Amino acid sequence: MRIFVVGSGVVGTATGRGLIETGNTVTFIDAAPERVSFLVGLGLDARLDLDLDVEPDSFVFLTLPTPNAGSRYDLSAFVAGTRTVGRALRSAAGVHTVVVRSTVDPGTTEGLVGPLLEQESGLRQGDGFLLASNPEFLRAASAAEDFRWPWMTVIGARNRRVQERLAELLAPFGGPVRIFGDPMTAEFVKCAHNIFNATKISFWNEMHTVAERLQLDLDAISDTVSRSAEASFNPGYGIRGGAPYGGVCLPKDTMAFLGFAAGVGVDLPILRSVIETNTRFLDRFDLRGSDGLDALPVRARTGVIDRAAVLSAGSVQPGAGWPVDQRPAPAAEGFGPAAEAFGPDSAEGTPR
Ligand SMILES: NC(=O)c1ccc[n+]([C@@H]2O[C@H](COP(=O)([O-])OP(=O)(O)OC[C@H]3O[C@@H](n4cnc5c(N)ncnc54)[C@H](O)[C@@H]3O)[C@@H](O)[C@H]2O)c1
Repeated sequence: MRIFVVGSGVVGTATGRGLIETGNTVTFIDAAPERVSFLVGLGLDARLDLDLDVEPDSFVFLTLPTPNAGSRYDLSAFVAGTRTVGRALRSAAGVHTVVVRSTVDPGTTEGLVGPLLEQESGLRQGDGFLLASNPEFLRAASAAEDFRWPWMTVIGARNRRVQERLAELLAPFGGPVRIFGDPMTAEFVKCAHNIFNATKISFWNEMHTVAERLQLDLDAISDTVSRSAEASFNPGYGIRGGAPYGGVCLPKDTMAFLGFAAGVGVDLPILRSVIETNTRFLDRFDLRGSDGLDALPVRARTGVIDRAAVLSAGSVQPGAGWPVDQRPAPAAEGFGPAAEAFGPDSAEGTPR
């Protein structure tokens, strides 16, 4: 297959080199002359400019940088690189599929890349060129290996043929392949993937702060919890959104630990947010009326918590004003598909 990689840094180089190894013809494009020289020095076909004039149908991977600028992506390089692809499409002989591999906000492939390519090329998305999202999950420190042996390949495209051809291209690398009928879902997967990893790390850093205060060995604690907490060892636990946690233990124990930590002088913003998010979901169900509540799983109906107590729990002192009267009626603990989702697939994949 003919492949172009636009933006030949960490991800672009790993992508292109992996695809060369599986028999594809790859050209690397990069705006930085020193990067192009470096890649040429490795014996790779690397160029400053993309020229599609006499090329057959190809995949054009966008692996352009998307650094952050405050609480959003700085898309200046991404937009500039996408425009160069659009200009190259203007005089292209083949029908090319532009695959967004950069990490972007959900909706970017169809909401930004498609319109930019149409504007620059004068072609129409769907017949003049095709679009897909194929986010990258590799880690910078082991980019080449992670590309060659992916834990997961995610493809999002509206066109069935694009889905199949992209899956075929990436099949030699192995690992499970998840195909979605639109790019936005694939983009969301990548965002949620990174946010989940970040949240878990920050959660354990919060626990570390408390353990440190108590002069306990957090590593021994976290190693044990990683094997005892179903949310840690069961991939299906707690992932169906839309309902709060409840049961006998989770509501009271989250509240109690927030107060306990405050008592030893440690603020836990993540735990406070966990409780606040749960309270919002409880409020949402209250608004649905009794029919709606009855239709909810038992675990979603039992965690009745007093909102004012939640919000003030961060300042609760041990032994003074503990929110002890909020125990819900006994019910199945926690929210999550637990047993029914804990099947043969549960050992699949290693969290990274
Ligand atoms: N590095 C990682 O571990 C990793 C993992 C997964 C996803 N990602 C995502 O992949 C994307 C690329 O990241 P990266 O780490 O490879 O970035 P990088 O900075 O290593 O590489 C980007 C390359 O694009 C080139 N470039 C910039 N503007 C250009 C333009 N207009 N035209 C052509 N080339 C241009 C730069 O010169 C650079 O070589 C980002 O969205 C990133 O978030 C990165």
